Amino acid sequence: MFRSYFSETWALTLGFGAKWRELRLEMRNDAIPFQHRQPMETRSSTGEMIEFREVTCTLGEEKVLREFSVSVSKGETLVLLGRSGSGKTTALKLINRLLLPTYGEVNVNGRKTEAWDKIALRRSIGWVIQESGLFPHYSVEANIAIVPRLERWPRDRVETRLTELMQIVGLPPDLRKRYPHQLSGGQRQRVGVARALAADPEILLMDEPFGALDAITRADIQKEFLRLQSNLRKTIVLVTHEVREALLLGTRIALLEKGSLLGLWTKEEFAHSTDPKIRQYLESDRAQLPI
Ligand SMILES: Nc1ncnc2c1ncn2[C@@H]1O[C@H](COP(=O)(O)OP(=O)(O)O)[C@@H](O)[C@H]1O
Ligand SMILES: [Mg+2]
Repeated sequence: MFRSYFSETWALTLGFGAKWRELRLEMRNDAIPFQHRQPMETRSSTGEMIEFREVTCTLGEEKVLREFSVSVSKGETLVLLGRSGSGKTTALKLINRLLLPTYGEVNVNGRKTEAWDKIALRRSIGWVIQESGLFPHYSVEANIAIVPRLERWPRDRVETRLTELMQIVGLPPDLRKRYPHQLSGGQRQRVGVARALAADPEILLMDEPFGALDAITRADIQKEFLRLQSNLRKTIVLVTHEVREALLLGTRIALLEKGSLLGLWTKEEFAHSTDPKIRQYLESDRAQLPI
């Protein structure tokens, strides 16, 4: 949470105006993907919301993903589980076209990401990151309302949505005027989730969203996430390196190692598997397993 927060604050306080403008531009164009007004038209012949077809992604010299194939159905929460550097964030970036595959294709709602208008695609996808990525000089309400305002919603619609979102993610209304540094880590993360949900995207990408929180706050927010998911039925790809979190939050688990998919399991299959690779993961986290 602190690294990006402080680097942005530094940019401001030290007068790096140009850097800050660059950052803001980047956030407008890339980092905060969200929503267009209508729900996505379903074009997928297979009914899958997201499909990776034999995707290889090379960055620099490195094959960061290798012949990666996986599909995510509507309403499902797919967990990408793997150690640091296994290619999880890269997979998310391929979904909202922050990256394009070197080989293979990624389809969102039956259309290749290449064929999507970048902005329309990103606005139809909510993005929640570990360090919340809030604008430090924007209040809670301004952070949450970024996309509705970019989309030029009328003021009263923004107001109604703000009230609704704060309630959905469990933020008391009196926090509306606060700034990110006046919030706890858990509250900041809730603001991050509210911001991603603001324009009601069908897809949510969550990159280690609860990783920076202390254990108790994390357990709380995970429970609420489950409740939220059963009400909202979003299609979610959630990245984690924690087996416990994968088993708690995922419908299915995709295990990644050095850019390759080792397998895809339901959480029950995963928890009871005798596959030595999986046992290794389970044993490393055994004390805390939820099932
Ligand atoms: N822009 C980049 N250029 C070169 N290598 C990269 C780039 N981004 C990520 N990588 C490398 O790709 C690998 C996977 O990265 P990433 O997808 O961020 O992994 P994870 O999210 O699982 O930790 C890492 O070895 C990382 O160093
Ligand atoms: Mg990552």
